[in-house]
Amino acid sequence: MYWFRKQVLMCTASHCMQKGANQIAGRLRMELKRKGLDHDVLANTCDSIEICDLGPNLVVYPEGTIYRNVQMKDIPKIIRSLQEGGEPVESLILTPDSDDEVQRRKLFEEACVADAIPTDDFMALAEKYDLDQAWVDEQARRGFIAHKERDGQPIITVTSKARNRYGIPLVSG
Ligand code: FES
Repeated sequence: MYWFRKQVLMCTASHCMQKGANQIAGRLRMELKRKGLDHDVLANTCDSIEICDLGPNLVVYPEGTIYRNVQMKDIPKIIRSLQEGGEPVESLILTPDSDDEVQRRKLFEEACVADAIPTDDFMALAEKYDLDQAWVDEQARRGFIAHKERDGQPIITVTSKARNRYGIPLVSG
């Protein structure tokens, strides 16, 4: 059957995979089959959808609903949502207005008022928005920030990848 009612794309790229995405994807597929939903819900794995720090992530089409931080315990709710007439799992939905997304956007906006920010100041911003060292390290690994040095002091620059994600224009002049 080629014409599916819904399609689920489950990110299994490295950051989501480190947080158990492969196991979650496997279980979701198994449960779809067990519930007889595999004939009209197609579940595929995919590459990064660039919200890695919030993973494991998946997207449900045709709505384009993003579920973030999906855990094994969420699978029964997701399965119910995929049944005919099922309601989306509100607690997992990520939108531009979700608290965690808004927090990150504000942090990056504040970090972008100049072309670079001292590393200590960036860490203070992270703390202000309840984000820890592990999150900052992940931003560097993903290429959202770059650690550099200016006048012998450690600084952080926000990359175009992060600016694009959060819709932040380049600082002019
Ligand atoms: S690794 Fe899954 S969103 Fe990037």
